[in-house]
Amino acid sequence: MKITDLEVMRGFIRLCDDGFRQGWHERNGGNLTYRLTPEEVDACNPWFVQGRPWVSMGVQAENLAGEYFIATGSGKYFRNVSLAPQDNICIVEINAQGDAWRIVWGLEKGGNPTSEFPSHFMNHSVRAETTGGACRVIYHAHTPSLIALTFVLPLTDRDFSRALWKSATECPVVFPGGVGVVPWMVPGGAEIALATCELMKKYDAAVWAHHGLFCSGPDFDTTFGLMHTIEKAADITVRALSCGQGIRQTISDDGLRDVAKAFGVVIREEFLD
Ligand code: 13P
Ligand code: ZN
Repeated sequence: MKITDLEVMRGFIRLCDDGFRQGWHERNGGNLTYRLTPEEVDACNPWFVQGRPWVSMGVQAENLAGEYFIATGSGKYFRNVSLAPQDNICIVEINAQGDAWRIVWGLEKGGNPTSEFPSHFMNHSVRAETTGGACRVIYHAHTPSLIALTFVLPLTDRDFSRALWKSATECPVVFPGGVGVVPWMVPGGAEIALATCELMKKYDAAVWAHHGLFCSGPDFDTTFGLMHTIEKAADITVRALSCGQGIRQTISDDGLRDVAKAFGVVIREEFLD
């Protein structure tokens, strides 16, 4: 038995493979974190190493003090995760103040958790709070069609949510709350982490202009599914716009309301005309 035989580790590794195959993870692009349950921490514990140094994050969240996360490594390639998980991902423990991590497993050839760990961490904090602890996954990918749209649509939550909802009939069912949009910022630090987690108070997905997408969810399937659906919606929009004739017809606002009603979800009414 290896730690990577545990169901939670297999789920994490599978998502990395699936994301790579979608073309969302060139080189070291993108990152993934998962907040372990207490039972999963116990199951992983026999493989934990002690005594690694605490590393300050530059952000703090009291509600995540003492939690454990699986995280992709900074500079590591998603395409390599399944081949050598122990060298490309890690498990980190959060200290009692909720402002530093230390590695307890993985990255055996050296390295740190993703440079976006501050963003993941703050998003986990906010999403855990707003979902009563249900949210466990934060996933960042370099989704090409969505990135393309950030060059042509106004960078507002409303414009992106409407365009994505209207690109395919089931989109309002999958993300009825819409998406937030973070303007272009330098990645990898506390500033973009705080801007993103402000939006994550309202949304379970946030677009990073000219960069990619952050999605959150309770499990790997839901979170990957949200990323997949939003990127596919963006791809359809890009294809329609690429025909060069403008948009002749689309789903009406009342149509969006009707879909939401039929599927029993609450669509963000403030974005509808
Ligand atoms: P990491 O390799 O540090 O995870 O960075 C990749 C990335 O996508 C930064 O936004
Ligand atoms: Zn990125």
